[in-house]
Amino acid sequence: MGGVERGFHISFEGIDGSGKTTLSTNLYLKFKEKGYPCFYTVEPTFMRVGSLIRLHASRIKNVPQYYMALLFAADRVEHYERVIKKKLEKGYHVISDRYVHSSIAYQGGLLNDIEWVRTINNRVPLPDLAIYLDISPDKALSRKKASGLFDDVTLLAKIREAYLSLVEKGEIVMVNAEKPFEDVFREVIEIIKSRLHIDL
Ligand SMILES: Nc1ncnc2c1ncn2[C@@H]1O[C@H](COP(=O)(O)OP(=O)(O)OP(=O)(O)O)[C@@H](O)[C@H]1O
Ligand SMILES: [Mg+2]
Repeated sequence: MGGVERGFHISFEGIDGSGKTTLSTNLYLKFKEKGYPCFYTVEPTFMRVGSLIRLHASRIKNVPQYYMALLFAADRVEHYERVIKKKLEKGYHVISDRYVHSSIAYQGGLLNDIEWVRTINNRVPLPDLAIYLDISPDKALSRKKASGLFDDVTLLAKIREAYLSLVEKGEIVMVNAEKPFEDVFREVIEIIKSRLHIDL
C-alpha cells in the first residue's frame, strides 16, 4: 500500500573487543548527521530472554553452549519481531551490534555444529549486510579492560575461524579491524556507500 521504502539492515560482527560497539554507534551518528532515519540495537537484548543470557554470561559458569544457542535464538526472534522488523518497515536503517552470525560463529564454532545453529535461527531473516571486524584474539583482549564471557584466547581463536569460514562463503564482509579506528570506520563507510548507494 505505497508507504515508505523498507530500511536496510546492517549487522556488525566479530569477537569480543573487535570494535563492534564503537563502529556501530559511530555509524549510527553518521547516518543521523546525514539525515537518514536510523536505529541502533544490540544483542543480547535487554528484553526477557536477553536479560537471562546476560545473567548467565556474568554469573553462571559452564552453561552448555546448546542451551545458550537456544536462548540467543529465542532472544533474536523476539528482537526481530518486536523491534527490528517494525523499524525496517517504517523505513529506518537498522544497525545491529551482533545478530545471527554471532550465534553461527560462537555457538556454531564452539559446538562444531554451524548447521544446527543456522537451523534454529531460520525464523528470522539474515541482515542485508553483515560486516565482520577481523582481529587477532590477543589484540582484541588487550583492548578490553574488563573481560567478557569469552576471555580465553583459544576459544576466541576458534570463534574467529568460524567467522573466517563465513567470509570464505561470502556471507559476511571482512574488514581489518586491527587498524586505527579512523581507518576502519572509513572502510566501513565505503562498503556501505557501495551497497546502499547513499551519500555518507
Ligand atoms: N580500531 C580501533 N583501534 C584501537 N582501539 C579500538 C578500535 N576500535 C575500538 N577500540 C577500543 O577497543 C575497545 C573495545 O571496543 P568495542 O567495545 O567497540 O568492542 P566490541 O566488539 O563491541 O566488544 P564486545 O564484543 O565485548 O562488546 C574499546 O575500548 C574501544 O574504544
Ligand atoms: Mg560491544
